[in-house]
Amino acid sequence: MKQVYSQVSSVVPKPFVKWAGGKRQLIPILNENLPKSFGTYYEPFLGGGALLFHILTDRNGQKCSISDLNSDLVLAYTTIRNRIDDLISSLKNHEKNYRKDSKSYYYSIRESNPRSEIEKTSRLLFLNRTCFNGLYRVNSKGKFNVPLGRYTNPNIVNEENLRSVSTILQSSKTSIKCRDFEAVLRDAKKGDLVYFDPPYQPVSDTANFTSYTNKDFTDTDLFRLAELCSKLDSKGCKVLLSNSDSKQVADMFSDKPWNVSKIQANRSINSNSKKRTGHFELLIKNY
Ligand SMILES: C[S@@+](CC[C@H](N)C(=O)[O-])C[C@H]1O[C@@H](n2cnc3c(N)ncnc32)[C@H](O)[C@@H]1O
Repeated sequence: MKQVYSQVSSVVPKPFVKWAGGKRQLIPILNENLPKSFGTYYEPFLGGGALLFHILTDRNGQKCSISDLNSDLVLAYTTIRNRIDDLISSLKNHEKNYRKDSKSYYYSIRESNPRSEIEKTSRLLFLNRTCFNGLYRVNSKGKFNVPLGRYTNPNIVNEENLRSVSTILQSSKTSIKCRDFEAVLRDAKKGDLVYFDPPYQPVSDTANFTSYTNKDFTDTDLFRLAELCSKLDSKGCKVLLSNSDSKQVADMFSDKPWNVSKIQANRSINSNSKKRTGHFELLIKNY
């Protein structure tokens, strides 16, 4: 279906933010593990939406329900869909000011707290492009706290991709919500596909990254998730789940109907560059 998409836009849409735990590099293996057919596609830990964009590009007209608990991120999806021209103008303005004095401009925007949807979204995209390691991280008060990155010429306005994302979100039947993952259970029906990519269980003290929102993803959340997976299974939904290669997770899904496989992944977000190497993750499904 890629040809269908190229009729309306010249570039294939891809994640518009760099996000910790982003799945772009794992798309080939995730694709191999998708069921052949499914009803609505649910992605309740959306992040950068790597698998969403792959599915929307490959399956024209696919019905999707996407959500995340990070309200700034969810707002970015709706702003890109609904107000792309205003957003691009605002980003171009950030780019112009950044070129004049990157350091002071970066920190002035990091400290700012804009009210309008356009300014909030362009701030998120600007910081994501210019901050250290392209990492979204907030402190316990929910304040973005990443320092300036060392880039000579960051691509602040990736206009082609943003327009392409906007077009595909407008043309697809996609509902976008800010909500906790458990709300999915209420809507999902037999034959629907739910892909869960939650914040990972830490496999070591230095490997934990859970600051997508001011609420950490705790063991209680993981138990809620495991319970939800079995309820969705009883309803006849197809469930696919990614997580770290941790014993805790493997033990939770050791019984039928779960198939657990180890896959090799490369992670680029770790403050220690020597630790940004390949490692194993778990892929769990009930079909
Ligand atoms: C591993 S990331 C998803 C990455 C995504 N698959 C990608 O390709 O970029 C996990 C996401 O879960 C979100 N999240 C954390 N706790 C949540 C909750 N209780 N309900 C819904 N989303 C949550 C975070 O904001 C984050 O965006």
